Amino acid sequence: MDKYYDRIIHGGDYNPDQWVDTKEIWDEDMRLMDLAKVNSATVGIFAWSLLEPEEGVYNFGWLDEIMDKLASHGKKAILATPSGARPPWMAQKYPEVLRVEESGVRNEYGVRHNHCLTSPVYREKTAAINRMLAQRYKDHPALFMWHISNEYSGECHCELCQKAFREWLQKEYGTLDRLNFKWWNGFWSHRFTSWDQISSPKYRGENHVPALRLAWRRFTTQQHLSFYLNEIAPLREITPDVPVTTNMMRLYKGIDYHSFAPYVDVISWDNYPDWTNGDNTESANETAFVHDYFRSMKDGKPFYMMESTPSIVNWKGVNRQLKSGVQELSAIQAVAHGADSVQYFQWRKSRGGHEKFHGAVVDHVGHENTRVFRDVARLGAVLEKLDAVVGARTTAKAAILYDRENSWAVDFFCGYHRDRRDYDKVCERWYRAFWSRGIPVDVISADQDFDRYDLIAAPFLYMVRAGTAERIERYVRGGGRWIGTYLTGIADEDDLCYLGGFPGGGLRKVFGVWAEETDSLDEGEYNLVSFGGRTYRAEYTCDVIHAEGATALGEYRTASYYAGTPAVTKNAYGNGEAYYVAFRPQQDFIDDFCGGLIDEMQIQPDAAFPLPEGVSTRKRGELLFVMNFGGEEKTVVLDREYRDVAADRTVSGEITLPENGYLILR
Ligand code: GLA
Ligand code: ZN
Repeated sequence: MDKYYDRIIHGGDYNPDQWVDTKEIWDEDMRLMDLAKVNSATVGIFAWSLLEPEEGVYNFGWLDEIMDKLASHGKKAILATPSGARPPWMAQKYPEVLRVEESGVRNEYGVRHNHCLTSPVYREKTAAINRMLAQRYKDHPALFMWHISNEYSGECHCELCQKAFREWLQKEYGTLDRLNFKWWNGFWSHRFTSWDQISSPKYRGENHVPALRLAWRRFTTQQHLSFYLNEIAPLREITPDVPVTTNMMRLYKGIDYHSFAPYVDVISWDNYPDWTNGDNTESANETAFVHDYFRSMKDGKPFYMMESTPSIVNWKGVNRQLKSGVQELSAIQAVAHGADSVQYFQWRKSRGGHEKFHGAVVDHVGHENTRVFRDVARLGAVLEKLDAVVGARTTAKAAILYDRENSWAVDFFCGYHRDRRDYDKVCERWYRAFWSRGIPVDVISADQDFDRYDLIAAPFLYMVRAGTAERIERYVRGGGRWIGTYLTGIADEDDLCYLGGFPGGGLRKVFGVWAEETDSLDEGEYNLVSFGGRTYRAEYTCDVIHAEGATALGEYRTASYYAGTPAVTKNAYGNGEAYYVAFRPQQDFIDDFCGGLIDEMQIQPDAAFPLPEGVSTRKRGELLFVMNFGGEEKTVVLDREYRDVAADRTVSGEITLPENGYLILR
């Protein structure tokens, strides 16, 4: 199923549990939600100590009341499981539920997200409270979706987790001989003779074995996933028709969210971009990239933007207020990129505690006569006109390969340019060549299907896991176009280097090049590359390559051993083509290079009219979103007459988009 409601969900985190002593506020909340055109509320995220104030003593009355109020006001409840934070009694009675930091010291009670991923007690307790929630609300008319825990993250180094890690390693590697070989443990005399000798990577322990660090991240991912599966088991059993999601964080590196995709019904993520009151083009590109990353996890199925701030956050150094229009445009961007929800952290500001100055729809003043409230209500009215996009999938002919495990490997290896790997930034740059032209693009991992795309750019694909090179080879042979860059195909899934010439794993013949050396450049130092009659700058990392069948499309214009060697190559392979960009390019090269391919391959943008710098477009279903992030007024010239859905008018010809303005065209 691609949609769970006919409307865009508009709502956010709602914490009535903080206001049990002044319950009159609950009715006021309902009145204000109606005014703000909010149709849903996410409840119970951190409510455990109110739900179970003492072990085995339950208190659901307040939640019954809230669920009833939501239902009678026609609002959907996104009901959270409370495992993101726990009551003090639990930590006091069962210290094993608390997380152990890398130092080996167990955390004391406090904050949140502070639980052991393995603890049988914690798993039992979370499954039990989840079961009670499911049993109690399974037939409740407000129950719409499950929100599992909150932003799963971090790791635990306790003895239970170490033991689970060793068991996981045994399953992964089978024998110690195999592990010793794959981790290259002959280096510095690290051959293990017993599984018990292995433990998690630590600052004051083993932190120089990249394969161990990779294994630990994979294990941590699996441990979070199995914790999650344990959480949802009672929900799936009791409420099989209620969709399940868990809110993820931007480009968080600690776990590979892709592993969760098959087990959630809806991908959801918390969106806190670095918006400013000026030109937001760069942030808009970065955020679009993240939207597309999450949307691509479930093959283009709509996702939820589970959190965003309606105004400011509280955790930056300087939490600057934004002009009206910035957050609205941010919300519209999410919908344009595939979100079926616009949700906030938070509905009402807490009165005390750590987040009392974080933006909220309802401020401490308590009424609706605030700028932020009016902005939210205005947006709510627009969202009510967008039923047509709900459930609409996005498809793309081009993809950027951005792979979490590769990002780990890139961060962990020692050598070459250690300060400027910038894997995220590099991928966002390649993405921007498509985004700025209004070309739909997916952001996929190395394990996702390649064959649905005509063009894939896979910058800095250092790690090529078993089976991946074969899939790339098949894709290109079958007619696909593949773009690789410097430091591609260097190591396998355990960071063991490929022997016999890079790019390894069988990719050398696909690219028709051999990368002999990799050079690193200082800040401000550039190599020059000629390509298509222009000269471009190469920065930070440059491979020196030999064409072995590939055609040179560009050359280094740098003296010494670089001079005249190929810097950009194209290799006809089977029915497709593989391109190798041997250096780290700046945006101008990427734009020109990808632009040439896009033109040649006739990959169509979503809009049939030209886009000024800073204006982006996305089509969803029948609607075309045109968004101005450029920080100043922009003019677009429409190719035909459209219906402007938000303003309810017919538009054609030259249209002026104000700063932070947008059009939704049918
Ligand atoms: C995260 C959390 C929320 C809240 C916000 C603040 O996304 O999930 O509980 O702390 O950050 O920005
Ligand atoms: Zn643990």
